[in-house]
Amino acid sequence: MKALVYTSSGEALQYGDYPDPTPGDGEVLVQLRAAALNHRDVWITQGLYPGIRTPSILGSDGAGVSEGNEVVINPGIDWGDNPAYPSRGYKVIGMPDDGTFAQYIAVQRNQLAPKPDHLSWEQAAALPLGGLTAYRAIFTKAKVSAGQRVLVTGIGGGVALMAAQFALAAGAEVWGTSSSAEKLQKAKKMGFAGGVNYKDADWYTQLSAHAVDFDVIVDSAGGDAFAHLVKLCRPGGCIVVYGGGKGLSSFKPQHLFWRQISIHGTSMGADQEFQDMVDFVAQHRITPVVDSVYALSDGNNAFQRMDRGLQFGKIVFSIPQ
Ligand SMILES: NC(=O)c1ccc[n+]([C@@H]2O[C@H](COP(=O)([O-])OP(=O)(O)OC[C@H]3O[C@@H](n4cnc5c(N)ncnc54)[C@H](OP(=O)(O)O)[C@@H]3O)[C@@H](O)[C@H]2O)c1
Repeated sequence: MKALVYTSSGEALQYGDYPDPTPGDGEVLVQLRAAALNHRDVWITQGLYPGIRTPSILGSDGAGVSEGNEVVINPGIDWGDNPAYPSRGYKVIGMPDDGTFAQYIAVQRNQLAPKPDHLSWEQAAALPLGGLTAYRAIFTKAKVSAGQRVLVTGIGGGVALMAAQFALAAGAEVWGTSSSAEKLQKAKKMGFAGGVNYKDADWYTQLSAHAVDFDVIVDSAGGDAFAHLVKLCRPGGCIVVYGGGKGLSSFKPQHLFWRQISIHGTSMGADQEFQDMVDFVAQHRITPVVDSVYALSDGNNAFQRMDRGLQFGKIVFSIPQ
């Protein structure tokens, strides 16, 4: 089969022939129609991930055809029985196991969910990992409901934009931060109440002039800005953290405990949450935002676009048939 193959940190990905996967016990073959990038894939190519195996096929997001059915793939393997946290054996497809940047993948049959009918292949491929992470953050952790005020940071990101779309669908008032005025404009057209550029030194003052007392804040950056997020929460509100791209954060514990603020960590989601997320998307006819579509053979340009942070939503690969 054709695949985009990762051979070594810092090296360009190679588009070429790779052995077809052979389904193991309980596994089925999926003929992929589209796949999508996550920042995880970029971290891996930069050597910033544990247990990297080469050569291998990256990619955690995919949609395709299996046994005649149109499906999306749950990127999580072996979450286990406890919905609160994954088992020690939990893995994400696309490292160490081969992923979706290929014509075929073998996955457990119970990792598949029906592709929502209203989505194109590209939109369906944009859904799995970002959708699962965002769904758990917004509903399981933050329990967002209608009328709540939600702030999502870095809304150009794949997970962030899905989180915002879920909060909007739940009837929340959603605000965002971004590095780009153009992305903030696009967000406004999607129904965001407003937003600010986190690169402005006074972003916190700008935002608090319009909106304070957030019920829920969803963040994957951490870093210096986090102390401001704590102050932007209403008493009794919460911050959900699903990443830490900007590193160490410090804040005054007094800003947390006096005001009864909770911080929840979250990662991916349980199998049931994946099914619930796909049902929610189908029921509310939510369409994941596709930033751009690249041919799989043009994979290195797609990785560069994400590394430079140019995307608004998901960067998708069309897979040759
Ligand atoms: N825990 C999990 O299960 C899980 C799952 C998926 C992702 N993640 C992590 O979450 C992060 C995002 O992943 P992704 O796949 O959505 O990546 P992505 O599509 O590349 O999005 C990254 C976004 O981060 C935003 N950003 C960059 N610097 C920022 C800052 N200083 N403050 C606020 N936002 C900032 C940017 O938003 P703008 O473009 O608007 O500037 C950028 O688009 C990564 O760290 C990833 O490893 C974790």
